[in-house]
Amino acid sequence: MKLHLSAFLLVLGFVIAIPTTQAQEKAPASAAASKKSKTDLEKAMSTIGRANRQLKKQIADASKNASSLELVAKMREGAEASVKLIPAKAQDLPASERDAFTSKYQASMKDFLAGVAKLEADLKANNNAAAQVDLKNLNDQEKDGHKSYRRPEKE
Ligand code: HEM
Repeated sequence: MKLHLSAFLLVLGFVIAIPTTQAQEKAPASAAASKKSKTDLEKAMSTIGRANRQLKKQIADASKNASSLELVAKMREGAEASVKLIPAKAQDLPASERDAFTSKYQASMKDFLAGVAKLEADLKANNNAAAQVDLKNLNDQEKDGHKSYRRPEKE
């Protein structure tokens, strides 16, 4: 009886261990796949995102304005690339709606670029109070832009 119990536990151990091992093996492969499938727009957005994260930390500090201006240049670089691209969500819409969707997206992205120019001008003038408001406005535009033009998350 004791032998039966040990054999049962041994088998149970394998049954639990096998799917766990398989899941662990699968994880890096799918992470690599999702990295590969980044759209050009996602890459441009990541450039904006990195600059934005750092800017939020230092925007109020006038002693960092030279570095902040470099970050704003990165943000503009990402936004200038973005304005030429088409959001993936366009593919989910009926063909008849795609052009209007893309035009609206491009107009929003141009507004965003105008906000980036204002942020740059205020930093150059060492007006950090205004620059803080500018950055806040850009982050509000991010929220609206994502709500309107980004594919809803799957799952
Ligand atoms: C501070 C401003 C913004 C930041 C920090 C930001 C950041 C991001 C990030 C991190 C992603 C995901 C990238 C990835 O999956 O790797 C993304 C995606 C996206 N963003 Fe932004 N974003 C900003 C502004 C905007 C604006 C103003 C718009 C539209 C006018 C916009 C439209 C989109 C779209 C459409 C996607 C999905 C990409 C695709 O369809 O391929 N974003 N953004």
